[in-house]
Amino acid sequence: MTVLIAGCGDLGTEVGLRLAARGERVIGWRRSPERIPEGIEGRAADLTQPLPPIPQDTDVVVIATAAGDRSEAAYRSAYVDATGNVLDALERDGVRPRRILFVSSTAVYGDFDGGWVTEESPAESAAPTARLVREAEQVLLRRSDRGTVLRLSGIYGPGRTRLIDQVKGGTAVLPAEAQWTNRIHRDDAAAAIVHLTMELDDPAPVYVGSDEQPVDLGEVLQFLAAELGLPEPPSGETSSTRGGARRMDSSLLRSTGFSFAYPTYREGYRAVLAGKGVRHP
Ligand SMILES: NC(=O)c1ccc[n+]([C@@H]2O[C@H](COP(=O)([O-])OP(=O)(O)OC[C@H]3O[C@@H](n4cnc5c(N)ncnc54)[C@H](OP(=O)(O)O)[C@@H]3O)[C@@H](O)[C@H]2O)c1
Repeated sequence: MTVLIAGCGDLGTEVGLRLAARGERVIGWRRSPERIPEGIEGRAADLTQPLPPIPQDTDVVVIATAAGDRSEAAYRSAYVDATGNVLDALERDGVRPRRILFVSSTAVYGDFDGGWVTEESPAESAAPTARLVREAEQVLLRRSDRGTVLRLSGIYGPGRTRLIDQVKGGTAVLPAEAQWTNRIHRDDAAAAIVHLTMELDDPAPVYVGSDEQPVDLGEVLQFLAAELGLPEPPSGETSSTRGGARRMDSSLLRSTGFSFAYPTYREGYRAVLAGKGVRHP
């Protein structure tokens, strides 16, 4: 059986390597396929252009592109157009995979005033870029009865060290008011994609992918400073949470038998600080 990763960057590559290690044939599509490591068959493909042939035995497709910048045009092309184009190519080649997973974002949810958010909560962010990600989800779920959407919160992990760099560089600021943040380690995001596509016979259409502990940003910064042996960052005014205050609840994902290797930011950041893993280019 073949697995196709459309948009094979850091997350897609981690998924592909895990599946290749299980003996699957994995094909990775991106515009710069020379960056795709051994174990995955890299192919040059621009998801906004006519796509290469898809092998008949393709069992799973994972769509994991990212927009090149934060403009609406970039989001429309990387999410809405790319998803439609992959579905067109599957139809063109008469390939019906068992599962098509779209990597989405919890940005599709708006502001919940710090309340808990699940798959059932309205995904009605007013932000134009978030609405385009939502539109891409709907393209998949409307056109395929084998579609699954995984809404990831903020990905951190090897090489994704924004908060660590802020603490080390002395630019971190503890928000004067509590600021909920939600995150998932890159490896847990990859493991969740493998789980949902390979282990479940009948997954739900939508899952939230976020670790078990939404946390105040200040607490994470204090933890990192302590782990690094640095003084606590100063408190002050910060810009509010981008896109809205909410606490993501991933209990539906856990109810399917998935368990997090990094259930909270503590285990995850300790692994990052210990230099575990690499970011795929
Ligand atoms: N970062 C976060 O905190 C976060 C949070 C929630 C969800 N997500 C989602 O997680 C997913 C994966 O993120 P990531 O970190 O793995 O991103 P990444 O490393 O930037 O990978 C994205 C890949 O998409 C490819 N791509 C972009 N446009 C393409 C196009 N037109 N045709 C073909 N390939 C294209 C890029 O390769 P080329 O440039 O070589 O084409 C790149 O390999 C994205 O869907 C993102 O929306 C991220």
